[in-house]
Amino acid sequence: MNKRKIILGILVNNIVGESPFLAEHGISILIKILGEDKEEIHLLDCGKSDSTLLHNIEAYGIDPSQLLFQTIILSHGHYDHTGGMKGLLENMSQTVPIIGHPDIFISRITYVDGFRSISCPFTQSEIRQAGGELLLTRDPVTINDFLMTTGEIPRRNKFEINPFFRKICNDQWVTDEVDDDLSLIIHVNKESFFLLCGCCHAGLINTLERVKELTGKEKCYGIMGGLHLVGASRERIDFTINELQKWNPEVIIPLHCSGREAMCALKNYFPKRTKLFSCGDSFSLPIE
Ligand SMILES: [Fe+2]
Ligand SMILES: [Fe+2]
Repeated sequence: MNKRKIILGILVNNIVGESPFLAEHGISILIKILGEDKEEIHLLDCGKSDSTLLHNIEAYGIDPSQLLFQTIILSHGHYDHTGGMKGLLENMSQTVPIIGHPDIFISRITYVDGFRSISCPFTQSEIRQAGGELLLTRDPVTINDFLMTTGEIPRRNKFEINPFFRKICNDQWVTDEVDDDLSLIIHVNKESFFLLCGCCHAGLINTLERVKELTGKEKCYGIMGGLHLVGASRERIDFTINELQKWNPEVIIPLHCSGREAMCALKNYFPKRTKLFSCGDSFSLPIE
């Protein structure tokens, strides 16, 4: 009998039902690994605000000051993934390794709905002072037997890239393809993986191809997270769904920036496999 599992708990998301949890534009997913003889807790992203993140950790039944994360993984530097980080670290009694890409702290803007900053609201030194040990690399990181980051993701399907972001490079605003975007790979068994995405700015299909390239695995057991199909054309949504059919995932849990149209399309194409989850919901993933 399989005794090992990973619980994926949605701490922060854009959608909430009638529950003690709070919603905001952001994402944070608790990753609890329950092995035969050990338990580990990791976190993917920190939501937009520490007030929501800390409130929802308590609503999840955990005392934030007692939380001991083995790692915090940052999918990229946008404010809605990093904003809760400093307050969370300050509430913890131990330092925590934070894994991400070197571009996380760069200055960046969007011009969807007018120009506005979407940078990480903290400097590297503020995060270090708060108790974060920054491990910044473009390369994939193997965290343990079950978890591995994708590192930087090649953009093979170019139209999966959102053209509305800018970043400062050599004192000039240039197109920001969000090179820091990474996803988290969970090894389910020898053949299959589960994909955990923050915003998936690299594109879902580009990301799946990256996982195959890194692991040799062609079977995607499931996908959870922000798929950044909000505002995407019908053509792009259809392309994503057609490609996704080839991967044949058993479960799809679109969150955060996936967009209502894409979520409805996924639900129509994969009615039993697509699960529409809210803050506070959990998914139990059996692992071998
Ligand atoms: Fe983002
Ligand atoms: Fe996001």
